[in-house]
Amino acid sequence: MSNYDLALLGYRLDGMPQTIATRTRRVYDRVAAFYPISTHLFHSRAHRAALRDSGIRDGMRVLEVATGSGEMFRRLVRVNRSGTTLGFDLSPNMAARTLRRVRKEYPKSAAHCNAVDARFMPFPDASFDAVVCCYLLELLSAEDIVRTVGELHRVLRPRATLTLILIDQNLRAFNRIYRFCGRMAPAFWGRQVAGRARDVILASDFQIVSERCVRQTGYPSRVLVARK
Ligand SMILES: C[S@@+](CC[C@H](N)C(=O)[O-])C[C@H]1O[C@@H](n2cnc3c(N)ncnc32)[C@H](O)[C@@H]1O
Repeated sequence: MSNYDLALLGYRLDGMPQTIATRTRRVYDRVAAFYPISTHLFHSRAHRAALRDSGIRDGMRVLEVATGSGEMFRRLVRVNRSGTTLGFDLSPNMAARTLRRVRKEYPKSAAHCNAVDARFMPFPDASFDAVVCCYLLELLSAEDIVRTVGELHRVLRPRATLTLILIDQNLRAFNRIYRFCGRMAPAFWGRQVAGRARDVILASDFQIVSERCVRQTGYPSRVLVARK
């Protein structure tokens, strides 16, 4: 099945026919100051697992896509002290917060973060040794998941790795609650796409090298590492 067929299939099955980026940017701009609380409650265990599984070492050229308020970004900079760590987020407030904290904690590091849309990455082909992307694909339409995974593939060097965290779909009660939240505030919650995103990764010439589920405060995450 081609990427285009996958996108069409997703489009038909999906309640999100278009990415609502303007609303998403606005809502994440507003919550930037409080977002670290949610990360500490629900995401930090998966972040730690992703860092362990990613194989990221000091001296690499690393990109984090959709940094949020920068908790994972600071972990990456801490490990990659003498390398280069770049990050971006759609929300200018999230990106500014991420940059401010990293400049304060690691003033000598070659790290930078700014406001960019993951669907159109301003980087040359094959420019990173590793890319990390946590809890972003849920907020994109089926077509934009395909486009963004294509961008992730494009900016990675041959045999470099992509580390993804997705919201897992293996708990029925959690799925029901998530569906409800997604209907109430789609620009913030999006919807669960782990199964579909996995298919897109495989169809985009990635090879999955590891995959595991991590739970924190009842919130299930899937940590997936794929090689180009
Ligand atoms: C659920 S939060 C996850 C934040 C962070 N990755 C983490 O693990 O805590 C989703 C983030 O994706 C960002 N985002 C949404 N759409 C985006 C896009 N098209 N390009 C870049 N970032 C985007 C939002 O602004 C938000 O900060």
